[in-house]
Amino acid sequence: MYRLDLRKAMRLGVMCSGNGTNFETIVRTCRYDEVVLMIHNKKECGAAKRAESLGIKSVRLASKEEDNIIKIFDAYQVDLVVMAGWMRVVSKKFCDAFAGRLINLHPSLLPKYKGLGAVEQALKSGDTETGCSVHWVTEHLDSGAVIKQQTVPILPGDTVETLQRAIQQAEHNLLPLVINAL
Ligand code: GAR
Repeated sequence: MYRLDLRKAMRLGVMCSGNGTNFETIVRTCRYDEVVLMIHNKKECGAAKRAESLGIKSVRLASKEEDNIIKIFDAYQVDLVVMAGWMRVVSKKFCDAFAGRLINLHPSLLPKYKGLGAVEQALKSGDTETGCSVHWVTEHLDSGAVIKQQTVPILPGDTVETLQRAIQQAEHNLLPLVINAL
């Protein structure tokens, strides 16, 4: 069993494009570590509003400004970068800059249903379960080694909205577990 107090507290950098519920969960749950910066690529996204109300420094940068994203995370001495709803593939250069320190959250049981529409695809597939994955990031879409997954049953009558909500609940549990264990 790992002991949190046996490892150094991490300085976390988070990348978001959307609502930021996972970002907020990390801030509230990973208390041993510290979210020092959140980068988002959407104007007025939920993540930016959450950062403001949580008192976390946030910066908006376009996805293509990868060099600046690397520079600013370096300037903040970030130990681990968490892509929590960052909806763009990153380059090899970006992955190399954070080798062994870059993880992504995806709403499916990878390698199933990579990319956009993972929840819809799982629902249409006839599968009886889906879930979420946290994996190491490579330049190939949703393809790095899986660190941990959590399954979610697909119930009769589930819609994209109900299934998405169930997966998000699982994500809010899984992502802090992985961060604490790293
Ligand atoms: C999460 O469900 C995450 O798995 C997904 O975006 C959502 C962000 O939600 N990420 C991807 O689809 C990446 N391929 P949030 O902004 O509320 O945390």
